[in-house]
Amino acid sequence: MENHLPQRVRVERRAVTEQESRSANGPDWDRYADEYQATHGEFLGDTGFVWGPEGLTEAEAGVLGDVTDRDVLEVGSGAGQCSRWVRAQGGRGYGLDLSFRQLQHSRRIDLDTGVAVPSVLGTATALPFADASFDVVFSSFGALQFVRDIGEAVAETARVLRPGGRFAFSITHPTRWMFPDDPGEPGLVASQSYWDRTPYVEVDDETGRTSYVEHHRTLGDWVALLAGAGFVITDLLEPEWPEGHDRVWGGWSALRGRLTPGTAIFGARLG
Ligand SMILES: C[S@@+](CC[C@H](N)C(=O)[O-])C[C@H]1O[C@@H](n2cnc3c(N)ncnc32)[C@H](O)[C@@H]1O
Repeated sequence: MENHLPQRVRVERRAVTEQESRSANGPDWDRYADEYQATHGEFLGDTGFVWGPEGLTEAEAGVLGDVTDRDVLEVGSGAGQCSRWVRAQGGRGYGLDLSFRQLQHSRRIDLDTGVAVPSVLGTATALPFADASFDVVFSSFGALQFVRDIGEAVAETARVLRPGGRFAFSITHPTRWMFPDDPGEPGLVASQSYWDRTPYVEVDDETGRTSYVEHHRTLGDWVALLAGAGFVITDLLEPEWPEGHDRVWGGWSALRGRLTPGTAIFGARLG
C-alpha cells in the first residue's frame, strides 16, 4: 500500500468494482511513471529482472525455469525490464500493461538498448491473446494486487498458457497488510487485521475521484485461487533482506526487512 503522489488524497477502506479499480490505477500509473522510472530505473536495470525491493533476481531465484526459446508473457510489464532480461536469455518476451506512459518508457528503453519487447496496452483480467499462446506468464509486482477480479486474472492466465506452462508472480507479502506502510518504526507495529480483505483506496481531495486502489489476499486465498484454476504450486519464496542493502522503497526498508517478509513470490505449473 503506498501513497506515492504529491496530490492530496484521503485514504479509505471500502469495496470497489473492477472498473473503478482499473479507472483509478491506469491514470495513476500514467501520472507516476516518469517519477517511478527516474527513481527505480537504475535499480531495476534496463535488461534486469528483479522480483522486488529486496533485489532478488530471477537469475538467483530460477522460478521461471529455462526461458530459452519459450514464449513468455509479462503482465503488468511496466517499462519491460524483466521481459528484456528474458529476451537476453533467448526467450520470446512480450509485455502487457495498463499504463500507456509505462509502455512509452518501455519503448524508450527498447531503442536505447536495442533489445525490443513487443508490448500491448491491456489489463490482466482480459488478456488479448489466443488460448494456449505462452509457455510462461509472469508478473513482478505487476497487475495482480491492482486487480479486484483476481479470479478472472488467474483464469485468463491459465487460458493463455499451454499445458504444463508456468505462472510466477511477486506481490507485497500478505502479512505486510497488518502494518502501516511505513519504512520506519511505525511500520513494525501490527494495527490492521490480516484477514480484512477490504481494498485500500485513495480518493483525490480536490476532485473526489478514486485515484488509486490496492487489493489484499491472504496466503490461503492465493493457494485456493491457484489450485482452483488448475495450477500446482511449485514455489513460495520469501526473500530475506540482504546484509548491507540500505535501499528504502515505499514501505520497504532494512529496518522492517530484517524482521518481516516484504515480498512473496509464487511459482506454479498448469497441471
Ligand atoms: C510496480 S509496477 C511493476 C512493473 C515492473 N515489473 C517493474 O518492476 O517496474 C506495476 C505495473 O502494473 C501495471 N498495472 C496495474 N494494474 C494493471 C492491470 N489491471 N493490468 C495490467 N497491468 C497493470 C501498472 O501500470 C504498472 O506498470
